[in-house]
Amino acid sequence: MSAYKSFAIAGFGKAGSLYANCFAQHKEDGFKWKVLSRSFAKPELRTAEAQGAELVAVDYDSQSSLINALKGVDVVLSTLRDEGLETVQLNLVRAAKEAGVKLFVPSEYGKNTLGIKEPYLKPKADTHDLLKELNLPYTLFFTGLWPSLILEPVSGILMGMDFDAGKFNFFGDGKIGLSWTTPEDFVPLAHHILTTLPLSELENSVFQIEGDRKSLKEIVALWQKKTGRKPEIYERSEEEIQAYIDSQDSNMMKLMPRELQRAGMRVTGEANKLWPGWKASNTWENIFA
Ligand SMILES: NC(=O)c1ccc[n+]([C@@H]2O[C@H](COP(=O)([O-])OP(=O)(O)OC[C@H]3O[C@@H](n4cnc5c(N)ncnc54)[C@H](OP(=O)(O)O)[C@@H]3O)[C@@H](O)[C@H]2O)c1
Repeated sequence: MSAYKSFAIAGFGKAGSLYANCFAQHKEDGFKWKVLSRSFAKPELRTAEAQGAELVAVDYDSQSSLINALKGVDVVLSTLRDEGLETVQLNLVRAAKEAGVKLFVPSEYGKNTLGIKEPYLKPKADTHDLLKELNLPYTLFFTGLWPSLILEPVSGILMGMDFDAGKFNFFGDGKIGLSWTTPEDFVPLAHHILTTLPLSELENSVFQIEGDRKSLKEIVALWQKKTGRKPEIYERSEEEIQAYIDSQDSNMMKLMPRELQRAGMRVTGEANKLWPGWKASNTWENIFA
């Protein structure tokens, strides 16, 4: 049983709402959990409250608002995203230190970001630096790519994967194995790790969770088997990849082609065994079953 009793989930989006769900499903463990959100407008927050979460509205620009919200909290689970990872997450770290929080779990859930310099993910490394500077213990979870990144039409097309049209423009030959984990699979495992491992194994530790490892080519083959459609596959040359990167405005899209080409988002999956019997439900075989 964990040395920690009280948890605060910061941000109620995809990962945040799944964490709240995990606590609700394990009420018998006796943990307290709050959800910090910028507004209570989302109806799902009321469901979380009915399931046992304490809701706290926060202003991330006000240190006193954050410190008050974190009073009596042992562990902060940040699930912020995008601009929320820049100054906002740093404000949250400072407030956590001030409020006496014992462990900070920054919003990660992708690539191994230790020491990363790429502009899109640098805010994650900046958070690590601040946690070390303030001597606030942390736990990091790296989980590789989320399948939704290529399944959702808008991001999928940017990644060269258009399942609706059956057109797939790989960055390179698409043969390299990539790590894939859905939040529905990794959040329960991260929750289990945080609520069962002793402090000594959690503090300043990194856990790598891998739900599945498949190349884009293998994923397209599974899609083809399920749909019976013939894919149109194009393999971008090195020059075409560089031209695509140069033409992008967003830092994310300047980063992703090489991640897909070179498996930069690969994780080890070493943490999978920390919950005996844990098995990812959302493997690509199951997604295209
Ligand atoms: N590896 C991958 O393929 C992949 C894919 C997606 C996400 N991720 C990572 O997973 C983590 C969680 O992402 P997610 O998809 O769960 O995020 P999400 O659904 O977009 O939710 C993030 C939450 O953060 C809060 N937030 C957003 N912008 C904010 C801002 N400017 N200031 C303060 N709060 C803000 C919001 O909560 P409230 O409105 O409740 O305040 C929002 O619901 C992120 O670190 C992200 O980079 C990885």
